[in-house]
Amino acid sequence: MVLTPMMIVAAYLLGSISSAVLVCRLKGLPDPRGKGSGNPGATNVLRIGGTWAAAMVFFFDMLKGALPAYTAYLMGIDAVWLGVIAIAACLGHIYPIFFGFKGGKGVATALGAMAPIGEGLALCLMGTWLVVVLLTRYSSLAALVTALLAPLYTWWLDDRFTLPVAMLSTLIIVRHKDNIRRLLKGEESKVSRSRRTK
Ligand code: G3P
Repeated sequence: MVLTPMMIVAAYLLGSISSAVLVCRLKGLPDPRGKGSGNPGATNVLRIGGTWAAAMVFFFDMLKGALPAYTAYLMGIDAVWLGVIAIAACLGHIYPIFFGFKGGKGVATALGAMAPIGEGLALCLMGTWLVVVLLTRYSSLAALVTALLAPLYTWWLDDRFTLPVAMLSTLIIVRHKDNIRRLLKGEESKVSRSRRTK
């Protein structure tokens, strides 16, 4: 009974640990909140610090979603509450209590949080993101297309999770409102890699 609320709080607190800020601090890079797009996420860390720093941020951001979602799944928590736990992890990432409530956009954390639904969904989501990014070089557009298609893929693969995934997608799309504005104006920056080697 008390476990589900505890899992929600734990997921939020875990989500609140900003991998991007910590990885940049550890590697002696500028704070991602004040550089590039200003977003503390893997795409911006790629701009600032290169591939390895970005890969670390992506991995830890994904883990922040996967860990509470898998734990809840293994505890037998039902689909709706599992969705709430997944959303709590993403809200932590977006509004982190430990980092002045200024967080990222929740893409990698949401991907991790959807992991218990199955590898089929993970492959569809990563495949969609990759195809759009390779075709357009816009990480934000890739995230938006993937978020739009995620509820459809989920409905097709395991419809118990369609509603929670639709809620996660909505959160991600709303969080990309500035990117949408820049994309429409043709001012969005494309994915690029920093030349720094450390
Ligand atoms: O995952 C974040 C990405 O969709 C956009 O990042 O830094 O281009 O705003 P950014």
